[in-house]
Amino acid sequence: MNEVLGLAGVSVVRGTKTLLNNIDWRVAEGERWVVLGPNGAGKSTLMQIAGARMHPTRGVAGILDEVLGAVDVFELRPRIGVASAALAHQIPEHEKVLNVVVTASYGVTGRWREDYERDDERRAFNLLDQWGVSTFFNRPFASLSDGERKRVQIARALMSDPELLLLDEPGAGLDLAGRESLVKRLSELAADPLAPSTVLVTHHLEEIPPGFTHALLLREGAVVAQGPLAEVLTEEHLSATFGLPLSVTSNAGRYTATARN
Ligand SMILES: Nc1ncnc2c1ncn2[C@@H]1O[C@H](COP(=O)(O)OP(=O)(O)O)[C@@H](O)[C@H]1O
Ligand SMILES: [Mg+2]
Repeated sequence: MNEVLGLAGVSVVRGTKTLLNNIDWRVAEGERWVVLGPNGAGKSTLMQIAGARMHPTRGVAGILDEVLGAVDVFELRPRIGVASAALAHQIPEHEKVLNVVVTASYGVTGRWREDYERDDERRAFNLLDQWGVSTFFNRPFASLSDGERKRVQIARALMSDPELLLLDEPGAGLDLAGRESLVKRLSELAADPLAPSTVLVTHHLEEIPPGFTHALLLREGAVVAQGPLAEVLTEEHLSATFGLPLSVTSNAGRYTATARN
């Protein structure tokens, strides 16, 4: 099976702070990972490496059969779909929703002729439709609710038909209905054989969509545990990850964690 990510001894150091400490991590094609850990654990830093937005201070990061540092990142990045708060901040407030999605393809295709643009627009509209937000196609991005914006960002991340999809806290700030709707759609994506290998970052067990296969637990930049979901999401590992004794339950593919008394 092909490897989409192969990190060996990856560390990221900034000044005196070690953001990631000696990470070994392999993601095979078709796997769907959740990365869990408390605030500041290094999850977004790990996604920056996986998305070819940052180079490790030490170690080797293999991404989609290329090695960071030995590849033109501008060729690699379009093969990776990213949705993150950092990226959302770069979207101009008045940008129309359809444009938010369609512009993700420009870097890939480099085509500017109008007939291609129309194809791109059609694809963008279909993706918005799949994520239930096509009625907003002509609205300014900033006028959407948090939940609607999150879905537009995922549609954007999928626009270039990426081989790897990185979703950094797509559930952050959503209300209960918004979260449940997102989990359901991500679970449907997980069941789609054509969907890219996916990494989903969260600090809430409730946001793990059924159908995800593996988990990596991070604390203070280091891996606490990683592997198949059911083996990793134990009370012992999760308590160590979040630094408090947790009681963990799972029901019909959904997980919940509460503090143990
Ligand atoms: N450029 C930087 N210099 C120093 N510390 C940083 C820098 N960037 C991030 N950090 C710190 O690294 C830690 C990990 O950050 P991050 O990867 O965003 O964590 P997470 O996404 O898990 O919340 C945080 O404590 C953050 O403040
Ligand atoms: Mg983060």
